[in-house]
Amino acid sequence: MAGGGYVPDDGVKHFEGRITGFLLITCIVATCGGLIFGYDIGISGGVTSMDSFLSKFFPSVYKKEKEGHHESMYCKFDSHLLTLFTSSLYLAALIASAFAAYVTKSFGRKISMLFGGVVFLAGSIINGAAVDVAMLIVGRLLLGVGVGFANQSVPLYLSEMAPSHLRGALNIGFQMAITIGILVAGLINFAFASQVWGWRASLGLAAVPAIMIAVGSIFLPDTPNSILARGNPEKAREMLKKIRGTEQVDAEFQDLVDATHAAERVDNSWKTILKPQYRPHLAICFLVPFFQQLTGINVIMFYAPVLFKTLGFGDDASLMSAVITGLVNVFATFLSILAVDRLGRRILFLEGGIQMIISQVLVAVMIAKAFGTAGVGELTKGESMLVLIFICFYVAAFAWSWGPLGWLVPSEICPLEIRSAGQAINVAVNMAFTFIIGQFFLTMLCHMKYGLFLFFAAWVVVMTLFIFFFLPETKNVPIEEMNNVWKKHWFWGKYIPDDAVVGTASKTKIKDMED
Ligand code: BGC
Repeated sequence: MAGGGYVPDDGVKHFEGRITGFLLITCIVATCGGLIFGYDIGISGGVTSMDSFLSKFFPSVYKKEKEGHHESMYCKFDSHLLTLFTSSLYLAALIASAFAAYVTKSFGRKISMLFGGVVFLAGSIINGAAVDVAMLIVGRLLLGVGVGFANQSVPLYLSEMAPSHLRGALNIGFQMAITIGILVAGLINFAFASQVWGWRASLGLAAVPAIMIAVGSIFLPDTPNSILARGNPEKAREMLKKIRGTEQVDAEFQDLVDATHAAERVDNSWKTILKPQYRPHLAICFLVPFFQQLTGINVIMFYAPVLFKTLGFGDDASLMSAVITGLVNVFATFLSILAVDRLGRRILFLEGGIQMIISQVLVAVMIAKAFGTAGVGELTKGESMLVLIFICFYVAAFAWSWGPLGWLVPSEICPLEIRSAGQAINVAVNMAFTFIIGQFFLTMLCHMKYGLFLFFAAWVVVMTLFIFFFLPETKNVPIEEMNNVWKKHWFWGKYIPDDAVVGTASKTKIKDMED
C-alpha cells in the first residue's frame, strides 16, 4: 500500500487518510460562507414586514397595508421598489459570479472567500446605517457581490478538501449553513421587530457572519488542487499530507496531477461544455438550479412573514411562523445528510417532489376557500394553523430534496475539464431565477392569486417527471467514473463517446502504482 490507494471488490477507488482535526476546522470555517447567503435570504422578508422599516423607506406600501381590507389582500404588498430591495442582491450575485469564477481559478479559493467576506461586511455596515432607499440598495448590491464570490468558492473548496467518501455529506454542510443562517435571521427579526431601530439591528448584524468568513479565510489554507493548478506541486503534496493526516498520499496526488493535466489541455472550458459529449452535463447544470427556484421555495423563504401577514396572522405570529418554517428547514436538511449516500439522490428528489405538490395544492385550496378571487375574507385560527402545517410539509420536502441536491448534483456530475464552467452556470442560473422570483412574486400573487401556488405545483410536476426519466443515480459513484453512469443511460448514453468512459483505465493505474 505504499502508494496509498487501493481498489476493493466494489470497484470504487479509496485513498488513505483519516478525518483530521485540521480538515474539520478548515471545513467549518469555509462553511460560514453558507451562513452569509442564508442570513440574507432570511432577513429581508422579516425586515420588509416591519412597520418602522416600511414607514421610513416605503411609505406608500405602508399606507396601503394600513388601509386594511378595502382592496384585495393579494395585492397589499405589491411594490416593485420593495421587491427590488430583496432581489437586487441576487442580480449583483449573478454578475459577480462571472468574476468570481475567474478569481477562484487564477488566485485560489481562499482569496475569493476573503474578498467575498470583506465586500459583504461593507454592505452590511451601509445597510445598518441606511438613511434612504439608495443606501439600502447599494448595501444590498455589495452583499450580493459577497454572496456571488462565496457561492462560487465555498462549495468548490469543500469538495476539494473532502476525502471522496465524505464529499456528499460535506457538500450538504454548505446547505446546512444556509438553513442555519435563514433560521438565525428569523430569530433576530423576531427579537427586534418591536423596536423602532429593529430593522437596523437585523440588517447590521449581517456583519457577524461576514467577519467570521473574512477573518477565518485569512487563516484557511488553500486546497491542494488549487495550489497545484497554480504551479506549486511540492507545496500541494505537503498540504494533501496535512489534511489527510498521512504520508501515504501518492495515489490521490497522482489523481490530482492527472486531473490538472487533463484540465490544462482544455484551453476554454466554456467552449468545451458546449460540445455534444457534454450535453447531459450542460442540461443538468442549467435545469437543476432552474427547477430548484421554480419549486417556489423562495416565496416562503423571502416572504414568509409578509405572506403570513397577508393571510391575516398578527405581526408577532407572522415572524414566529417564519421561525417555525426555519426550524423545519434546518432539521429536514440534517435528515438529508443522513439519507443522501444511503437512499440515493433519486429517491429523495422523487419523494420530495410528490410531497411538495400535495402540500402546494392543499395550501392553494385553503386560500381559495377563504379569500376566493376577490381577495377578501379571513382564515379562522384553525385554518391558519393548517396552512402553516402544510407549508411546513412543503419546506421539509424541499429541504431534503431540491435544497441540498440542487447544489450537490451539478457539482458532482462534471468531469474536471468542465467543472468550473458547470459550477459557474449553476450559480448564475440559480441567482438569475432567485432574482426573478424575488422581484415578481408579489406582483404574481396580486395577479394569479391562490393560483400562484398551483403554478408552482405544476412546475414541481414537470421537474419530478424530469428526474424520473433523465437523472441517473449518482450515489457513491467516484467523480472520475461518472461517465459510466451517463453511458448506460437510456437517453444520454448516445452522447458519450466510448473513449470518455475512464473507469477501467484508472483502476489499472492505481493497481500499477501499488505493485
Ligand atoms: C436555495 C435557496 C433557498 C434555500 C432554502 C437553497 O438551496 O438555493 O434559494 O432559499 O435553499 O433553504
